[in-house]
Amino acid sequence: MCGIVGYSGDKKALGILLSGLQSLEYRGYDSAGISLKNNNDIKTIKTKGKVTDLITLIAESNINTSATVGIGHTRWATHGSPSSVNAHPHYTEHVSLVHNGIIENYRSLEKFLKAKNINKTTGTDTEIIALLVDFYLKEHKDFKNAFFEAIGMLKGSFAIAAISKGFDYMMLAKNESPLVIGLSKNETYVASDVSALIEYTHDFIFLEDGDVALINKDNITIWDKDKKEVKRNTTKIEWSKEKAQKGGYKHFMLKEIAEEDEAVRNTIQSRIDEDGNVFLNDEITIDKKFLKNLDRITIVACGTSFYAGLTAKPIIEKYTDIKVDVEIGSEFRYYDYPYSKNNLFIAISQSGETADTKEPLKMAKSKGIKTLSIVNVKESAIARLSDSCIYTLAGPEISVASTKAFTSQLAVLYMIAFYIAQIKNYEAAKKLSKKLLEIPSLIKNTFSQTQETIKQLADQYYNYQNFLYLGRGICYPLALEGALKLKEISYIHAEGYPAGEMKHGPIALIDENTPTLVVAHPKEPFYSKSLSNCEEIKSRHGKIILVSSKKADIADCTIEVPDIDYDFSPFVYIIPLQLLAYYVALFRGNDIDQPRNLAKSVTVE
Ligand code: G6P
Repeated sequence: MCGIVGYSGDKKALGILLSGLQSLEYRGYDSAGISLKNNNDIKTIKTKGKVTDLITLIAESNINTSATVGIGHTRWATHGSPSSVNAHPHYTEHVSLVHNGIIENYRSLEKFLKAKNINKTTGTDTEIIALLVDFYLKEHKDFKNAFFEAIGMLKGSFAIAAISKGFDYMMLAKNESPLVIGLSKNETYVASDVSALIEYTHDFIFLEDGDVALINKDNITIWDKDKKEVKRNTTKIEWSKEKAQKGGYKHFMLKEIAEEDEAVRNTIQSRIDEDGNVFLNDEITIDKKFLKNLDRITIVACGTSFYAGLTAKPIIEKYTDIKVDVEIGSEFRYYDYPYSKNNLFIAISQSGETADTKEPLKMAKSKGIKTLSIVNVKESAIARLSDSCIYTLAGPEISVASTKAFTSQLAVLYMIAFYIAQIKNYEAAKKLSKKLLEIPSLIKNTFSQTQETIKQLADQYYNYQNFLYLGRGICYPLALEGALKLKEISYIHAEGYPAGEMKHGPIALIDENTPTLVVAHPKEPFYSKSLSNCEEIKSRHGKIILVSSKKADIADCTIEVPDIDYDFSPFVYIIPLQLLAYYVALFRGNDIDQPRNLAKSVTVE
C-alpha cells in the first residue's frame, strides 16, 4: 500500500513527482523519496517521514532540479521499519527503482545474490530487485534485458518503476499491484493510481498482471506475461482528485472492503512460503521455548479489533491447545487479572494508539508478562511498547468503520496459531497455513459475488429501526461484528447474539418489524440448530436474511458466499456483513466515512 509516481517528458520532473506523492500520501506516509535522472547521472534523496519532510530535505540539498526524468515513492513499510535507508527509491551504482507490493521469494533471491558476493544493506525486499537488475545489467550491458531477467525471477506482488544510468527510458513491471501509465503529448507519466496524475492527464493505460513496459517521453512499448508485444487500451478518466483517491468508489469504506483481498494477501504473502512454513521468527522475538510451553494467551482489544480476537480464539485454542482469554480493554484496565505461569499477552489495535488497549499493555509489562501486539500503523505507541509486534499490512484505513483491518488482524492471529502449532510440531500446521494462502482470492470472489444482491437487499431493509444478528460457534463473533458495523454507520439499533441464547431473551424482540440476520456455515456442527432458530423467528413473523454458502428456503433471502472450510469461514462470511452495513447507511444518506460521534483513533479513556 505504497505510492509510486514517475515522469519522463520535457518539463522539470521534480514538481510533478512531489505533487503526485502528496496526492498518494493517503496510501502510505512513513517515508518518501525521489530519484532524478540528469543525462548519465541519477541522484536520490529519501527520508523517513512525510512528503513535506522530503521537500525540506530537497530544499536544503544541492540536487540539480532541472531533470526531466524521475521516479518517486511514498511508503507504508512492509519489510523493514520506516527509515531513510529503507525508504524508496532503492539504488545501486547504475539502477534506481521504486516498488509497491511484496516479493514473496526474497529469501531465496537473497541467497542467490549472496552466493555471488552481493549483499543487501537495507531491511527491505525491494533492494533485492535493484541488486538483481544491476547484476544482470553488468552481464547484458542492456537495461531492458537486465530488467526482464530480474523480473522473471520475482514471485509475489509488485508494481515497479526503474531507471538506469546511460539509458534514456524507464522500465515498468506489474503483477497484482496496480500500475497505470498517464498519457500526454511529449510526456509519459506513471503512477500506482490515477489520483497522482489526474491534474496532468485524463488518459490512462492500466497495465495488466505480468506486463512489462518500456516508456520514455514519446514512446510506450508493452509486453505481456509471455513477453509478446501487446497494445493495451487507453481509458479516459474524468474523476475529480478526491474521487480518484477513493479509487472511483463513493466512499473509502467501500474501497477498503474491496481491498480486503489485497490487505490479507500482503499480510500473509511473505510470512508463509509455498510449503506452508510460517515465518514469524523475525517479528516474534519472544523465546521459542517459552512459546512452546505457553499455558495461556490473553488478548486485549477494543471495538472491531476485540471481535477479531474473539473470532480467532477457537482457532488458536484448537490448533495450539492453549487456553485463550479475549478481554475488552476498557474493562481489563480495572481488573486484577490472574495471569498464569506462562502467559502471553496480545494487544490488537489498528491504530496502535487506543488508550483502552495501551493501558492494559503497560500493566501487563509492569507485571513482567511477555507482550506481543498486532498493529496496522507503523511505529505507533502500542507497536513500540510491546516486546514484539506483527504488523498487519493492510495499508492506511481511512474510513472510521474498520473493515480491512479486521480481516488482516484475523490473518495474523491465524498465522500466530499455526506458527505456535508448528513450534509444537503439530502435524497439520503446514497444511493449514497453506490454506491461508487461498483466502485472498476467496475474499475477492465473495465481494464480487455478493455486492449486487446486498445492494438490492439494503434497499428493502434500510427503513427498519432494529436488527438482530445471530450466529453460533465461529459465526457468533461475526454476528457481533456485523451488528457493530450496522450500528456505527447506519445508526440502526442492532444486537449481536449467540443463536442459542435467543430463547433466553432476544426472542421477545422478534416481530415483523425486527429482521434477523443469521450467519450459518452449512457444515458447522450445529447447522440444523441454526435452522431451528430460523423456524422460531419465522413463526413470530420475523424476516430472515441468511448468510451462508447454502440457500435455505426458510430465509426470506440468502446471501450466498463461496464454499469454504468452516475454520476459515470468518474471512469470507464477514464481507457481506460489512457490505450490508455500507449499503443500508448509503440508502439512509449517512456520512459513511465519518459517522456521527465516532473517531478513528480513540486516544483518551
Ligand atoms: C474506535 C474505532 C473503531 C475501532 C476501535 C478500536 O472506536 O471507531 O472502528 O475498532 O476504536 O481501534 P483500534 O485502532 O485499537 O483497532
